[in-house]
Amino acid sequence: MVSGKGVKILREHGIEVVEDVLREECDAVNEIFFHWITHNWPFVTVKYAMTLDGKIATRTGESKWITGEEARMDVQRERLRHSAIMVGIGTVLADDPMLTCRLENGRDPIRIICDSRLRIPLDSNIVKTAKEVPTIIAMTNFNKKDNREKCEKRHILEEMGCRIISTKANCGHVDLYTLMLKLREMKIDSILVEGGGELNDSLFRHKLVQRVKAYIAPKIFGGKDAKSPVEGWGIPTPNDAYMIENTQIRRIGEDILIEGRVAYK
Ligand SMILES: NC(=O)c1ccc[n+]([C@@H]2O[C@H](COP(=O)([O-])OP(=O)(O)OC[C@H]3O[C@@H](n4cnc5c(N)ncnc54)[C@H](OP(=O)(O)O)[C@@H]3O)[C@@H](O)[C@H]2O)c1
Repeated sequence: MVSGKGVKILREHGIEVVEDVLREECDAVNEIFFHWITHNWPFVTVKYAMTLDGKIATRTGESKWITGEEARMDVQRERLRHSAIMVGIGTVLADDPMLTCRLENGRDPIRIICDSRLRIPLDSNIVKTAKEVPTIIAMTNFNKKDNREKCEKRHILEEMGCRIISTKANCGHVDLYTLMLKLREMKIDSILVEGGGELNDSLFRHKLVQRVKAYIAPKIFGGKDAKSPVEGWGIPTPNDAYMIENTQIRRIGEDILIEGRVAYK
């Protein structure tokens, strides 16, 4: 019972109701549900693991592993908390991840891959397991230049269990706003984004991120070509920064977790 009707009914039946008890704590526990109910829009958490020098992979693109086992288990709990998990095709090509939930009796989130040109390999772990784990590939609409090969690949991916969602192109990529609209229609209330830097940047630029979880490992990778958590163009002046509010800092094993809500200007 939402929208205040419950309180009214209880009071009408003579039950004393005390409101706003531990309000902030309750809001935090239920933030996905409240966001979905009030905005009718998926709650998006961007999560990444980085080194102390701000790298999410080495210069060769390797990222396994940056944080320790305890931090990685925390990520598994986040996978359970969210209905879906999203990555860019760059991450699939670099890591060939499974993106499932490793917790005992855990439920696998729906996997969403942003892959405008259907570059995902048919022998990738994601495609090979698409009949067992719900999988969405988001691509851009076909255009005149698209060849028969791409149309055939779409067909094969569908036969292998992937659901294909296509959107108009935005700067040549999947249009994330349209994608979110379609995911909302599918009643996907929450998405854990696990990178990489290009996709994260697009999501911030479209103001689609509500929460950030940054796991920081006490190690240094170096390398000017090593990837960072948010890439793309970035913002021109510090004044334009995306601000993170209500930050919490927690130590998890050897690593540090900083998380908070994104406040857009
Ligand atoms: N440590 C961590 O937490 C972590 C997490 C994830 C990844 N990584 C590392 O990060 C690296 C991959 O990062 P990445 O930045 O290259 O790849 P990414 O962000 O995973 O994928 C980028 C690709 O996604 C596709 N895409 C589709 N729609 C998009 C949109 N609207 N905006 C942006 N991209 C869109 C684009 O290709 P198309 O246009 O062809 O679709 C783009 O090239 C790997 O080395 C991986 O190991 C680390």
